[in-house]
Amino acid sequence: MTMSAEDLRQFEEYAQAVALAVEEELDALLPKPADSDDARLFEAMRYSVFAGGKRVRPLLILAANNIFGGNKKRAIRVAAAMECLHTYSLVHDDMPCMDDDDLRRGKPTCHKKFDEGTALLAGDALQTFAFEILSSADTHPNPAVCAKLVQSFAVGAGPLGMCGGQMIDLIAEQKDADTYDQGALARLQRKKTGALFTACTEAALILNSTSTSDWNRLTTYAKNVGLAFQMVDDILDEIGDAEKMGKAVNKDRERGKATFARILGVDGARRQAEFLVTQAIDQISVYGERAEILKLLARFVVSRSY
Ligand code: IPE
Ligand code: IPE
Ligand code: MG
Ligand code: MG
Ligand code: MG
Repeated sequence: MTMSAEDLRQFEEYAQAVALAVEEELDALLPKPADSDDARLFEAMRYSVFAGGKRVRPLLILAANNIFGGNKKRAIRVAAAMECLHTYSLVHDDMPCMDDDDLRRGKPTCHKKFDEGTALLAGDALQTFAFEILSSADTHPNPAVCAKLVQSFAVGAGPLGMCGGQMIDLIAEQKDADTYDQGALARLQRKKTGALFTACTEAALILNSTSTSDWNRLTTYAKNVGLAFQMVDDILDEIGDAEKMGKAVNKDRERGKATFARILGVDGARRQAEFLVTQAIDQISVYGERAEILKLLARFVVSRSY
């Protein structure tokens, strides 16, 4: 599945506009280092959040919100919270006790730039800050909506979601990764990465009080796209360009990670990812033009090189 130059241009234009809006919001929200002993924590949080990144999850929230013509300002605050939560997962994922990486978003990882204690705290603080944003009346005046958003993000990031998936990922390093079958790998990756993608579409669904059929369509879309996203991340670890991606490549095999690229080969994994994305696009075709960006996003996920 490839994207035409025009489709890619359109997608990147939208993605850039979303990134800019979310970064402006984050700049306003995140405390700036002042002359005090905790300044280093704020500096490390801002360092990791503003290091760049594709901002795919914010884009997913905004594009899904768009389908329902939802309030953009509220969606941007939710997207800013999601980017804090995701950045926390990256800061911790890079630490020596996990993937032990030196480069992230084209810059030294948080623990390299600062130190391990600071990176641990910056990750913790980014996580809790995400919930501070979500629970604020400035995000939504109805506390019941805020509570649902908090719950959705907590489930996506917690033991049943991202953290659970990261645990299975670490255990796989200790086992013979080749013994993982497709089902076990899909369970790992759906938790590790798919769960936060699902929280993104759930946020848009919650913000717009949508119907059960909208809920089912967008949740299926996010699950498929999230799994495909991690499959392609694993493929790019094998064949990608480190400079383009802003992180090291050829790490997964070295560390004994269980990945689809490893058990199915790069071409096999790509075919699976394309199949998932085709199904995802199918789910949202009922929305017609309103789902155009979500369709482009799904195709970007499998054709991306960064
Ligand atoms: C990297 O996520 C971690 C995975 C879940 C694969 P991204 O590829 O979205 O990283 P950034 O935000 O663009 O840096
Ligand atoms: C990380 O997966 C997923 C997270 C929950 C952070 P990876 O470990 O493959 O992500 P990268 O390749 O370091 O970005
Ligand atoms: Mg990892
Ligand atoms: Mg990693
Ligand atoms: Mg990876």
